[in-house]
This record gives sequence, structure tokens and C-alpha cells, in this order.
Amino acid sequence: MVPTKPESLLLLTLSFVILLRFTASIVPQEEVEAVENILADMNATNWRFDGDDCSLDMVSEVPRLSQEANASIGCDCNIGNDTDCHVVRITHKFYNLDGVLSPELVKLPYLRSIDFAYNYLSGTIPPEWGSTQLQEISLLGNRLTGSIPPELGNITTLTQLNLEANQLSGTLPSALGRLTNLDSLMLSSNMLTGRLPTTLGQLGNLTDFRINANNFSGSIPDFIQNCRLLTRLEMVASGLTGPIPSNISLLVNLNDLRISEVTGPAQAFPQLNNTHGLIRLTLRSCNISGEIPEYIWLMRELAVLDISFNRLVGRISSNILGRSLRFVFLTDNMLSGDIPDTLLVNGASIDLSYNNLTWQGPNQPACRQNTNYYVNLFRSSSMGNRIQDVLSCTENVKCPRCEYILPLNLL
Ligand SMILES: *[C@@H]1O[C@H](CO)[C@@H](O)[C@H](O)[C@H]1NC(C)=O
Ligand SMILES: *[C@@H]1O[C@H](CO)[C@@H](O)[C@H](O)[C@H]1NC(C)=O
Ligand SMILES: *[C@@H]1O[C@H](CO)[C@@H](O)[C@H](O)[C@H]1NC(C)=O
Ligand SMILES: *[C@@H]1O[C@H](CO)[C@@H](O)[C@H](O)[C@H]1NC(C)=O
Ligand SMILES: *[C@@H]1O[C@H](CO)[C@@H](O)[C@H](O)[C@H]1NC(C)=O
Ligand SMILES: *[C@@H]1O[C@H](CO)[C@@H](O)[C@H](O)[C@H]1NC(C)=O
Ligand SMILES: *[C@@H]1O[C@H](CO)[C@@H](O)[C@H](O)[C@H]1NC(C)=O
Ligand SMILES: *[C@@H]1O[C@H](CO)[C@@H](O)[C@H](O)[C@H]1NC(C)=O
Ligand SMILES: *[C@@H]1O[C@H](CO)[C@@H](O)[C@H](O)[C@H]1NC(C)=O
Ligand SMILES: *[C@@H]1O[C@H](CO)[C@@H](O)[C@H](O)[C@H]1NC(C)=O
Repeated sequence: MVPTKPESLLLLTLSFVILLRFTASIVPQEEVEAVENILADMNATNWRFDGDDCSLDMVSEVPRLSQEANASIGCDCNIGNDTDCHVVRITHKFYNLDGVLSPELVKLPYLRSIDFAYNYLSGTIPPEWGSTQLQEISLLGNRLTGSIPPELGNITTLTQLNLEANQLSGTLPSALGRLTNLDSLMLSSNMLTGRLPTTLGQLGNLTDFRINANNFSGSIPDFIQNCRLLTRLEMVASGLTGPIPSNISLLVNLNDLRISEVTGPAQAFPQLNNTHGLIRLTLRSCNISGEIPEYIWLMRELAVLDISFNRLVGRISSNILGRSLRFVFLTDNMLSGDIPDTLLVNGASIDLSYNNLTWQGPNQPACRQNTNYYVNLFRSSSMGNRIQDVLSCTENVKCPRCEYILPLNLL
């Protein structure tokens, strides 16, 4: 069939548009070569970068480690003072790349974001990266070793730095304090040591800071109070010791605060009465003594409260406003008094074991069967006889020999 006039016009226009697209979307040869070298260094041998349309093509089948696997490259054709398209993003995550990080990133002058999360990349972080203008770096979940190069402190454009779950060692370079645009700094699950440099107090834009599972030394630094925008602060088993600085009360934007395993002198419950938006609060094994402040139970957003393994005394408030409270861990304190019904809401998981609470008989709410909440009362009371200590919710048993028939795992 011979095309009618409007159809041929359409075809002509289409081919013109396609031609225009192809001629206008070419990535400069230097950038194509740089990407090829970067892929080769990472041992991404099954991928090929096509500079004609800025696509990353799979040349042979590669297993995806997750639904989230993503290997792609982003270009921007409106950036720079030429008509070229430039590489601005490289994503290559959840593939089992077993190569190394490439210093050639510096040859991509418009590169803004790299995400190489969840591969098996090894070796060190190239100090050359210090001269890039990256905004986002994620190397989460690889096998990187060595220390964090101080040159990273030169990437003042950086807003996100995620080095979690590697085998990085050494101390944190104080040069990181130059990253004043930094929004999130995630360093959990490495082998970092030494004190946190005071320069981190200059990170005035930091909203998310995580250093869980490391081997830092020294006490939790006072300068953390300068990072006023923090909404999430995690120092679980970081190695840092107590006390928790009193000025943590200035971090009123926190909605997720997790601190645990801090040794040091006994301290009172940190003052969080201005931190109204807390959703999750973990202060586990922090040698906190005294009572749980009343306002904790009045926090409306609070969903997870873990203040286990401390030396808390006093009663659990019955005035609980936090209707979202679903996970409550009060394990191993010296809390006394009754268990308020207001704690026992649908979907709740409550651990009251190892306390000095009033013994709960079989007819009390905490002992009710077929409920939608779960309460661990193991040794939650030390007031009854030996058997009742261990087994709440049983009839008031009085047989002196029962101790001998208790299963071993309950003792
Ligand atoms: C891969 O990641 C990029 C950048 O986050 C995103 O724009 C793209 O949609 C993702 N592709 C797939 C297939 O998920
Ligand atoms: C803009 O163009 C000039 C010369 O045309 C060049 O020297 C300069 O490096 C270019 N700038 C960027 C950011 O590429
Ligand atoms: C790259 O991958 C090949 C096979 O996939 C492997 O034999 C080689 O050891 C890898 N190279 C590095 C540097 O890991
Ligand atoms: C980059 O950082 C290093 C170490 O912090 C420093 O010695 C060097 O002068 C910096 N280079 C530039 C160009 O800023
Ligand atoms: C926060 O970042 C902005 C730009 O994103 C910058 O202008 C400002 O100086 C930073 N604030 C602080 C306290 O460093
Ligand atoms: C933690 O650091 C201390 C020195 O501060 C060192 O003695 C210890 O071996 C380190 N522990 C681990 C598990 O690396
Ligand atoms: C705690 O904050 C107050 C008010 O900003 C300040 O006056 C005080 O010096 C701070 N304390 C410490 C130990 O930094
Ligand atoms: C807790 O504080 C007490 C009293 O200050 C102290 O004796 C004890 O060693 C501390 N415990 C830990 C684990 O730091
Ligand atoms: C928070 O608690 C401190 C000490 O208990 C008190 O001085 C302060 O007024 C309280 N702030 C608010 C807003 O309740
Ligand atoms: C346990 O609670 C009872 C009654 O509230 C109190 O008399 C006793 O001193 C408490 N024991 C401890 C070790 O706190």
C-alpha cells in the first residue's frame, strides 16, 4: 500500500525527530571510555554502555540478587555549555560485581550520583574521588577495606554518604567536617575506631547520622548538639561510652533515636521532653537509673520504646496517650507496681521480663488468652514464691517440690 499524503508526512517528521534525537543525544567519547573503564574495574563484564542513547545494556544473562537489582546510567542533555549529553548517574546495585572501585570517576565531570550498593566490591575507596562533584555516594553492603580517605572531605557538594556494611577501619577523617551540605552520613557496620572528630559538629545540614556496630572510642561527644536538624541518630553498639550528653535535649527534631551498649556511670533518663515527634526510642543498656519520665508515655507518635537493660525503678504510668505504642521493651530493670491495661492494646508486643512488677494471676489482663497482644512476663515479678517468679499467669501453686520439676530452660 502506498502511503497517503498525511502518513508520509508523519513518517518524514518521525524520522527527522529520530535523527535529531540521535545526533543530539551522543555522550562525548571521553565519557564513554571512562564509563567502560569504570565497569571494567568493577568487573561488570556482562554490561556494555551505549553512548548513542545513554543506555547500559546487559550483554549476557546476569543473576539478579534482588527485586531491587538495578543497573542503569543516567544522562542529562541540558547540562554543561555544549549540546552533548553527559553522564550524571551510575547505578549498579544488587549484582554480584567482584571488582574494585575505579579512580576514573573523575573523568565524568557531570557525575552527581553513584549507587554501587550490595555487590562484592573490594579494595579501598580511591582518594581521587575527592576531586569529583558528587552529591550522592552509596557503597552500602560491599567488602571495602582500608580507611576513609580524607580527600572525601573535598567533595563539598556531597549530600549523602553511605558506607554502611563494609570492612572499613581506621579513624574518621576530620576533613569530613567540611561537608556542610551533608544530609545523611551512614557508617554503621564497619570496624571504625578512634574518637569522632569534633569537626562533625560543623555538619549543620545533617538530618540522618548512623554509626551502629563499630569500634569507636571515647564518650558520646557533646558536639552532636550542633547538628540541630537531626531527625535520626543511631549509635547502637558503636563502641562509644556514656554518659549520653545532657544537651541531646536540644535535638528536638529527632523522630528516631537509638543508643545502646554504652558503659559508664549511672545517669538519669535523658531529657527528651521537647522532642515531641519521637516515633522510635531505643536507650538499651545505657546504665540509666531513676524513673521513666511521665512525658515518655504521653508522646503521641511513639511506636517503639526499648529501654531494656537499665536500672529503671518506679511504676509504669497508666496515663498512656501514645496510641501508636506497639513495641515496648522494659526487660531487665527494677520496675515495680501493676501493669496498666492501657499498655495492652491490639497488636502490641510487650516484654516485661526480669522486673519487680506485681505478680499477674491467671485472670488478669496481661494473662488473658487469645488476645491480639503478646506479653512476656518471665520473671517480671520477684514478689511471689520461686515458681510464681518464673511463671506468671499460673494458679497460685503451693507445692514446695515444684521447683525441681520446672523445665531447665525456665531457670
Ligand atoms: C534504577 O534506578 C534509577 C535511579 O534511582 C531509577 O531512576 C530507575 O527507575 C531504576 N530502574 C529500575 C528498573 O528500577
Ligand atoms: C565550557 O566551555 C569552555 C570553552 O568552550 C571550556 O573551556 C569549559 O571547560 C567548559 N565548561 C565546562 C564546565 O565544561
Ligand atoms: C572478574 O570476574 C571473573 C569471572 O567473572 C573472575 O574470574 C575474576 O577473578 C574477576 N576479577 C576480579 C578482579 O575480581
Ligand atoms: C583534598 O583533601 C586533602 C586531604 O584532606 C587535602 O590535603 C587536599 O589539599 C585537598 N585538595 C583539594 C584540591 O582541595
Ligand atoms: C546547608 O546547605 C546549604 C546548601 O544546601 C548551605 O548553603 C548551608 O550553608 C548549609 N548549612 C550549614 C549550617 O552548613
Ligand atoms: C577495638 O578497638 C580497640 C582499641 O581501641 C582494640 O583493642 C580492639 O581489638 C578493637 N576490637 C575489634 C573487634 O576490632
Ligand atoms: C548545652 O546547651 C546550652 C544552651 O545552648 C549551652 O549554654 C551549654 O553550654 C551547652 N552545654 C554543653 C556541655 O555544651
Ligand atoms: C553503671 O553505673 C554504676 C554506678 O555509677 C557503675 O558502678 C557501673 O559500673 C556502671 N555500669 C556500666 C556497665 O558501666
Ligand atoms: C523539660 O524538663 C526540664 C527539666 O525537667 C524542665 O526544666 C523544662 O522546663 C521541661 N521543658 C518542657 C517543655 O516541659
Ligand atoms: C520490689 O517491689 C516491692 C513492692 O513495690 C518493693 O517493696 C521492693 O523494694 C522492690 N524490690 C526491689 C529490689 O526493687
